[in-house]
Amino acid sequence: MSNRAQFVTKMGVIAATVGSAVGLGNIWRFPYEAGQHGGGAFLIVYLLCVFLLGIPVMIAEFVIGRSTHSNALTALQKLKPGSSLSKVSYIGIVASLMILSFYSVVAGWIMEYLFQAVTGGLSGHTSEEYATLFSTFTVNPWRSVMWTLIFLLANFMVLRRGIEKGIERISNIMMPVLFVMLLVFCVNSLFMPQAKKGLDFLFNPDFSQITPKVMLGALGQAFFSLSLGLTCLLTYASYFSDKTPLVRSATVVALLDTLVAILSGIIIFPAVFSFDMEPAAGPKLVFQILPEIFQQLPGGYLWSVAFFLLLFFASITSTISMSEISITYFVEAHKMSRSRATGLNTVIAMTFGTLCALSFGVLSDFKVFGMTLFELFDYVSSNIMLPIGGVMLSVFVGWIVDKKVVEEQLTDYGARKITLMRPIRFCIRYVAPLCISLIFLYGLGVL
Ligand code: PHE
Repeated sequence: MSNRAQFVTKMGVIAATVGSAVGLGNIWRFPYEAGQHGGGAFLIVYLLCVFLLGIPVMIAEFVIGRSTHSNALTALQKLKPGSSLSKVSYIGIVASLMILSFYSVVAGWIMEYLFQAVTGGLSGHTSEEYATLFSTFTVNPWRSVMWTLIFLLANFMVLRRGIEKGIERISNIMMPVLFVMLLVFCVNSLFMPQAKKGLDFLFNPDFSQITPKVMLGALGQAFFSLSLGLTCLLTYASYFSDKTPLVRSATVVALLDTLVAILSGIIIFPAVFSFDMEPAAGPKLVFQILPEIFQQLPGGYLWSVAFFLLLFFASITSTISMSEISITYFVEAHKMSRSRATGLNTVIAMTFGTLCALSFGVLSDFKVFGMTLFELFDYVSSNIMLPIGGVMLSVFVGWIVDKKVVEEQLTDYGARKITLMRPIRFCIRYVAPLCISLIFLYGLGVL
């Protein structure tokens, strides 16, 4: 323990974990998934997934990470030598590299939009022009690949500086500012002409729309947004101190993450209906709508620059956390130096990130199971690997790890009384593994 880094301040723990959770998943992916899956119907299932399945799995990851202070593979082996469930760490490594690859493409779009915002390219256009701006940019092989690579390079530089300095400092400053900005945009959206229609879409569920596909989409989104099921938060928890309140931290992180997603929905959907756009537009949704929103705000230039800058930081605190999975593994299990491990992580992501970026242009006809590479990476990691990882982690903590170890962690080594101890354990043992498995099998059409 002594020579592993630790988060220095109490705020650092929450801020860095929130930094991992809050990112493009909330602001870009949530509105587009909700828009494609019926709005309110999606939101309801999503909330159930976060609170009944997400929080228990997050606590499970925290328990494993903090009780062992090791990378995922070593941690699981320490707790139960020879357990086949320790293979979940390989799922985590592969899933994290897949997510890093396509996520960097979208983070690259954020950088392009930041660039456009700074140089004045985001103001004074019509709706059609904003739509064209997005499509011509993403189709252009050079430009989108260039930004993907620049983003990964930035990610690489932050990572080389190590845990406390890099992660903590950035997330401590940026997250609260981003939050305040989102609140301002929310208020602005509430005054739009079609605000009511947008809010109805998001908050008034049409239960007939809850299909197995919507459920799997919501489950995948919940896990993606909370950074769960791929041992990312397990790795973060391995840096927690013994005094970090585990259960409370998990709850606060889930609440904040969900709040940001909902705020993002409140910003986007009133605008979607007011500007006469399609809620089911997919990945391009927020990129077409946000510039229009900024254009209408007084001082739109500054808002757009500030927003894309903060979104860049929100993205990089997330990619740092997903990179940490493979880096910690390369360092601790393969005895690589940290800088080599960081380099390897970056090279892998650059290779696949380039392919994902090209799948909007030159590779758009290259499809596997009817999906482009970008869609495939997203779908397979979020809707398949993360739920499987979640089941394995909750089964491991619920059934395999010694009950005493779990209790010791939930009470922070006896420092706190956890009144909800039994329901929490019940969710970890039964609710999470069963419900995740059912939604997963239903969603894939196996059941
Ligand atoms: N939770 C992050 C987001 O919402 C994405 C992420 C997924 C981060 C998996 C780490 C691991 O943007």
